[in-house]
Amino acid sequence: MLVAGATVVFCARTIGLTPVDEPLLIAQPSDTQQPRERLSSEALDEARRSRRHPRVTEFDYLHLQRLVDDLAVALGTIPGPVRDVLDVYCGARPYDDLLPAGARCVGMDIDDHYGTADVVTEEFLPFEDRSFDLVMSIEAFYYVPNPVHGAAELRRVLRPGGTAVITTPLVWEYDRTILEHRFTGPELEALFEDWDDVRTVENGGRGVAWALMTGHMLRSFQLAMPWKVQRLTAMLFALAYLGINAAGAAGEAVDRRLPRGNMTLPANLLLAARRPVEE
Ligand SMILES: C[S@@+](CC[C@H](N)C(=O)[O-])C[C@H]1O[C@@H](n2cnc3c(N)ncnc32)[C@H](O)[C@@H]1O
Repeated sequence: MLVAGATVVFCARTIGLTPVDEPLLIAQPSDTQQPRERLSSEALDEARRSRRHPRVTEFDYLHLQRLVDDLAVALGTIPGPVRDVLDVYCGARPYDDLLPAGARCVGMDIDDHYGTADVVTEEFLPFEDRSFDLVMSIEAFYYVPNPVHGAAELRRVLRPGGTAVITTPLVWEYDRTILEHRFTGPELEALFEDWDDVRTVENGGRGVAWALMTGHMLRSFQLAMPWKVQRLTAMLFALAYLGINAAGAAGEAVDRRLPRGNMTLPANLLLAARRPVEE
């Protein structure tokens, strides 16, 4: 039974995956947020391109490039055959090409903003037990209201021995009007403590976090300017982002050599974990 008000769209690619009869937690967009319009195909292509192939002249290049690099390693080293994949909150689906060859991916999202989801639902997660070999949630698990329940649901829909890969920001602004989480590494690992092969990867350190926040602040100034001024100054801002990314990368290289003990400030974290085979 689906929660009242929930929308579920099952497309042809999801045939064989049926909703379960459990009441489920719902990720609620803010009441003040307007329903999001469907992106044009050009905007979708750009959303995909900017996440999958960020440019060094973009403000968030260092962060996204580290994320893509670390994600490629995580997805490229999943043990066992990967036939069925669930992408939770798939957005523009920028990472489909990084999935193991031959895998069938079901994209799920809360609305059809990107026009790419096979399943549009506010439920977490409307799938039968043991349906997938890989469940990923990239830059979105922080929207799950109850992360303990969220991790349990990832485990339920995974086949024994299956892998979960999630990434989530630590240094990033949040929306005051909705519930969002920020996880440190140990907090994230605690959610998966009874899984196998749990490992977290810091997607960059303080240099990347610095470049991301400095670039983001400059980007806010850029976007606040009249459109004509933005066009006239676009090249200057691109050069500024290039400089910030270069400084961030240099700072990162120096920072790695400094004795910092256990203290860290990654912009982003990736966690991979396996559902135990024996259960
Ligand atoms: C930063 S995007 C990441 C999309 C995609 N996984 C990627 O890596 O490009 C966040 C995703 O979370 C989804 N989402 C889930 N719950 C949400 C909420 N409460 N508010 C806004 N977005 C939400 C959005 O629809 C979007 O697909």
